[in-house]
Amino acid sequence: MSLVCVADFKAHAQELLSKSSWDFIEGEADEGITYKDNIAAFKRIRLRPRYLRDVSEVDTRTTIQGQEISAPICIAPTGFHSIAWPDGERSTARAAQEADVCYITSTYASCTLEDIVAAAPRGLRWFQLYVQSDWELNRQLIRRAEALGFKALVITTDAPILGKRRRYIRNQLNLEAKIKLMDLRSPEERNSTQSSPTSLPSASFCWNDLSLLQSITRLPVILKGILTKEDAELAVKHNVQGILVSNHGGRQLDEVPASIDALTEVVAAVKGKVEVYMDGGVRTGNDVLKALALGAKCIFLGRPILWGLAYKGEHGVKEVLNILKTELHTSMALSGCRSVAEISPDLIQFPRL
Ligand code: FNR
Repeated sequence: MSLVCVADFKAHAQELLSKSSWDFIEGEADEGITYKDNIAAFKRIRLRPRYLRDVSEVDTRTTIQGQEISAPICIAPTGFHSIAWPDGERSTARAAQEADVCYITSTYASCTLEDIVAAAPRGLRWFQLYVQSDWELNRQLIRRAEALGFKALVITTDAPILGKRRRYIRNQLNLEAKIKLMDLRSPEERNSTQSSPTSLPSASFCWNDLSLLQSITRLPVILKGILTKEDAELAVKHNVQGILVSNHGGRQLDEVPASIDALTEVVAAVKGKVEVYMDGGVRTGNDVLKALALGAKCIFLGRPILWGLAYKGEHGVKEVLNILKTELHTSMALSGCRSVAEISPDLIQFPRL
């Protein structure tokens, strides 16, 4: 069967994965209002194409934090890739390297940062940190990420505690007992078969602690999970280098706005001072085009990457990325945009539906 769009990968992954793995990936919080709205909000936006422009050549390349990528379509941090494919994050990293896009590795990867870098040494990688209560552990993780050539630190802000994911409770899913959190273990512990200690993010980490974090790294700091103009302004004031507008794929606080709806507010608040990215519900080339027209420099994919992994490991992830890149190319040509720089707010029909 040929898979022609991201939705096809979703259907396939559901057939291939066990129910508990599928439920882990879906993982919507509470009633799943935001989870659903992430997709629906994109579909409420209409485009205003411009014609009679020479679109015989369309270039999807762009940069993030000064690094070139082949398209503004990158990989969001998601934990535990080995539940979708045995080689886990190594396969994801190889696919990202080949596609020439950025891969944000999660703190909760199922293999070590060293293994991931060895699998794809030339790939552009950022490291997502769930700030730990133990600052020595934060320091060690950041040093390792820097030494291994990660180019930015992504701090997730929307998970001081875990959202209520009904599927986890119904399945009695205890992930941490099942899967080794390799990067939170010492080298001796990594070789042990015992489950790792609970390593949930710090619930007390706040704005005042950001400067401490910035003092121990020379990497650009990106805040992931910002949804309001107030927090966007604070982020700029605290000298971060980027904001990733996100609601964690609807897995944390339910009934917050869809990411694409929150994007406009954040973009307006930062006034071009830092790069703004978004994730949540991006499933088609048109979605990418809309996010860029509304001010995102790049989008990130969560679940679609895991669907690709479940389907065919590295090759499945590559296919997902290729399909979206080709769709974006088509969307750009059909709307009169020859380059990413030509994607502007004029493409969006206001007022929105
Ligand atoms: C996530 N997400 C996430 N975010 C993060 O900062 N650290 C993490 O370890 C994880 N883990 C994780 C696991 C799984 C299974 C999913 C689906 C998501 C959130 C992720 O980075 C991103 O914000 C959303 O997945 C984007 O929404 P879509 O693309 O899944 O709709």
